[in-house]
Amino acid sequence: MDNTSQILMRSAEQFDGRRVLLVNPCADRLLAEMPADWHVWCWDYAPYKALQNLVPAERLSFSHLCPQWSALDAAILVMPKAIERAEYALAQIAPLLDAGTPLYLVGEKNGGVKRAEKLLQPYASAVRKLDSARHCQLWQADMDGLAAPFALLDWEQRLTIDLADQTLELISLPGVFSHGRLDEGSALLLEEPAMLPSGKVLDFGCGSGVLSIALARRNPACQFELVDVDALAIYCAEQSLQLNQVSASVSPSDGLSDVHGRYAAVISNPPFHTGIRQDTGIAERFFNQVTRNLLPGGELRLVANGFLRYPPQIEAHVGPCKVLRETSRFKVYSALAPG
Ligand SMILES: C[S@@+](CC[C@H](N)C(=O)[O-])C[C@H]1O[C@@H](n2cnc3c(N)ncnc32)[C@H](O)[C@@H]1O
Repeated sequence: MDNTSQILMRSAEQFDGRRVLLVNPCADRLLAEMPADWHVWCWDYAPYKALQNLVPAERLSFSHLCPQWSALDAAILVMPKAIERAEYALAQIAPLLDAGTPLYLVGEKNGGVKRAEKLLQPYASAVRKLDSARHCQLWQADMDGLAAPFALLDWEQRLTIDLADQTLELISLPGVFSHGRLDEGSALLLEEPAMLPSGKVLDFGCGSGVLSIALARRNPACQFELVDVDALAIYCAEQSLQLNQVSASVSPSDGLSDVHGRYAAVISNPPFHTGIRQDTGIAERFFNQVTRNLLPGGELRLVANGFLRYPPQIEAHVGPCKVLRETSRFKVYSALAPG
C-alpha cells in the first residue's frame, strides 16, 4: 500500500461509517481495507480504473471537476505533485463542507505536504498536524463553512503561443504540463518542418493539446486523436482544440491502455517523471507497446531531454532512430516502424 494510505490507516476510526470524500486517491487497496461510505474524485485515470472494482460508479468520478456531493462528514485530499493543483482541488472541496467538518491533507514530507497549514488556513478555523509516519504527514483542518463557490473560469489560464507559421491559443489549468507557457521541448518538436504521414495520428500525453493543434494545421491530411492520463489535461485539450477550430478526439488513457487503433504516426513529448521521484517507466512502457499501435512504416516522432537514453529503447522496439533536431537540452527523434 502507498505510504499515504498507510498513514491514513492509522487514523481509520475517524472515517469508519462516515460519508467521506476522497480526492486524488492512490491505486491501492486502501478503500477495501478501510471501511467508510467513500465518495471518490480522481483526476488521474490510473487509480480511477483501478478503483472501478471497489467503488460503485455513482460514487467514483474521473473529471476536472469535483462532483457536488452533499452531507459529507469528512474529506481527504491526497497531496498532488503540484501545489497549485492542491489549491485548485481545495477551492472545490471547501464549499462542499459545512462548518466544523474536518478536511484531512495527507502526503509525503518531501512532496509539499509541509505547506498544509498555508494551504488549509484560508478555509479553516483550526489546522493541526495529526500524525507523522512512513515519510508522510497527516493534517486536519476544521472547516469554517465560509468558502466561496468554486468558479472554473477563475482557474483557467488562456495563453497565446506564437510559432513561426501560426499563432494558437491554449487553455490551461493548474498542474497541467507547462501551465502558462510553451515547453522548450514541445517548441523544438514544432520547429521540425517535415510533414507527418497522412492518416490517423496519435498524440500521446497531449497536455493542453499544443502539439496536435499546431501539427493539425500543417498536416490537413491527418486526423488527430489525443490521449492523456490527467482529466484536467483532457479538459484543457478539448477547450484548446475548440478555441483553435481544430477538430480531433480527446480521451483518457493510462499509457496506451485505452488506445486500440493503428496510426500512421504517433507524436509525443513523453512524461518522464510522475509524483515526486524521477521516473522514465511510463516512456519505457510506451516504447515497448507503441509498435502495436503503428501501421507498417508508421512514424514515431518525439521530443525528450537529451540526457535520457531513449534511442536504444526506440531502436529495440520500433526501428532505426534519427535525430531530426537538437539543442543543448532537447532532441527530436523519428523512427519508422518496420514496413
Ligand atoms: C511532457 S507532458 C507533454 C504535454 C504536451 N504534449 C505538450 O507538449 O505540452 C507529458 C504529458 O503526459 C501525460 N501523462 C503522464 N503520465 C501518463 C500516462 N501514464 N499515460 C498517458 N499520459 C500520461 C501528462 O499528464 C502530461 O500531460
